[in-house]
Amino acid sequence: MTNIVEMRGIEKRFPGVHALKSVQFDLRPGEVHALMGENGAGKSTLMKIMSGIYARDGGEMFVDGNPVTPDGPRAAQDLGIGIIHQELSLMNDLTAAQNVLIGREPRRAFGRLDETALNAKTAEIFASLNLKMDPRTLVRTQTIARQQLIEIAKALSYDPRVLIMDEPTAALNDTEINELFKVIETLKNDGVGIVYISHRMNEIKRIADRVTILRDGAYIDTLESAETPLSQIIQLMVGREVTQNTPVIPEISQSAVALEVRNLSRGKDVLDVSFDLRKGEILGFAGLMGAGRTEVARIIFGADPRDAGEILIDGQKVNIRTPHTAVEAGIGYLSEDRKHFGLAVDMTVRANIAMASLDKLTSRVGVLNEATMKDTAVKFIDQLGIRTPSDMQEVRLLSGGNQQKVVIAKWLLRDCDVLIFDEPTRGIDVGAKSEIYALLEDLAAQGRAIIVISSELPEVMRLSHRIAVMCEGRLTGILPGGENTTQEQIMELATQRDPALVGAEDQK
Ligand SMILES: Nc1ncnc2c1ncn2[C@@H]1O[C@H](COP(=O)(O)OP(=O)(O)OP(=O)(O)O)[C@@H](O)[C@H]1O
Ligand SMILES: [Mg+2]
Repeated sequence: MTNIVEMRGIEKRFPGVHALKSVQFDLRPGEVHALMGENGAGKSTLMKIMSGIYARDGGEMFVDGNPVTPDGPRAAQDLGIGIIHQELSLMNDLTAAQNVLIGREPRRAFGRLDETALNAKTAEIFASLNLKMDPRTLVRTQTIARQQLIEIAKALSYDPRVLIMDEPTAALNDTEINELFKVIETLKNDGVGIVYISHRMNEIKRIADRVTILRDGAYIDTLESAETPLSQIIQLMVGREVTQNTPVIPEISQSAVALEVRNLSRGKDVLDVSFDLRKGEILGFAGLMGAGRTEVARIIFGADPRDAGEILIDGQKVNIRTPHTAVEAGIGYLSEDRKHFGLAVDMTVRANIAMASLDKLTSRVGVLNEATMKDTAVKFIDQLGIRTPSDMQEVRLLSGGNQQKVVIAKWLLRDCDVLIFDEPTRGIDVGAKSEIYALLEDLAAQGRAIIVISSELPEVMRLSHRIAVMCEGRLTGILPGGENTTQEQIMELATQRDPALVGAEDQK
């Protein structure tokens, strides 16, 4: 079978980083080829070269056997190569349809925009994705998951022969992932070649035909997925064996309550939510996308106002109105949307880590202590294995997973009593994932009270002392963590709609 795309001896250097060292990759029509490797291994860089975003420093690339050098995304699109980026690149203030067909909007006579055709064409693509969304919806109003689906629709609108998906499922829930996999199946049957990047290892077995592994910018191997156990793939990725440390869940029911949330409500998003969080406890929040978990976190952190309810820290009522007052009350929040809330991507790793703790790093006379900032940053870079040439590297130049580690470092440094982690391991590789679990467990053991919101059920179950489950804004139950709870029990609560509401809808 001839390859659609073939890459040989690809080289890429950035200042201080040899990102790709003679890497090879090929793609056949109708296959899903997974590209695997740890954070910073070079996956996104290789795909940016394939899709014309970066120029290669060396090596060759062929499409249908002909040598090519796409000198920009348009040139790659003309070759039939489309990419869905790891970091979303939509225009927030445009509608979904305007984003999907950006630069190619249907026009009437005299060049006037044909809104009707624009929306109809987009609706068609949404339908093929089984996505229920009004094409006129503003992107800004959509969750990350739904923005991801708009991004996918945009890539499909070019009718690509090659579709690169760089962590498409990082923000999707199980139902949405199943929809995406159906789309991938259809594309495969149409002969589209798909490059698939994901840190969710179980997905690889489900959809990949072949797997190529990179490590530290070097090509390691290409294997048939069906013949290769996951443990072997992981071992090739990290270059050593990863042992999954089983958690010790200590008894926490005796410790003092750190955070009390009473009757929290906001519009239809959060309905009368109450719970306690003890010192030393990790409370997991499970639920489907849109269940209201992030909304609860944002209200506690003062990022959104509440209509009703109160919040108590150490038994004292606190009046949290802004993230600033929340931080002062000892609450930290690691947002699910790191690009907008977590990071100043144009600033250095050092500055980002220090950002939430400037008061602590400032001397009594108000001078920032650069030396302490540097030492602290270097310590976290080491502790979390953040891959960067130095602590003065701009964060936007780090790989996706390493950016996430910087946000984590920032909140670890802040030393909050109550920490809320929203999707903390999104885009984080297997090895680093267990390191982050260990870190969270450490923090809990030190007496911090921790909330972990995660759409990966095994993660919630692995980490939590108790699991709070939400459905459509309500807290439908709190289950014990560990082996006492099954995924089915969680899913049952996650889909337990309000009987009153269900009844009302039936009558319509
Ligand atoms: N524009 C850039 N400037 C400088 N360094 C860069 C740039 N883009 C990537 N790098 C560096 O190149 C290396 C490879 O990054 P890349 O984004 O390809 O990793 P990745 O395998 O996609 O990782 P992840 O799983 O975290 O997304 C990293 O060390 C990264 O910091
Ligand atoms: Mg990447």
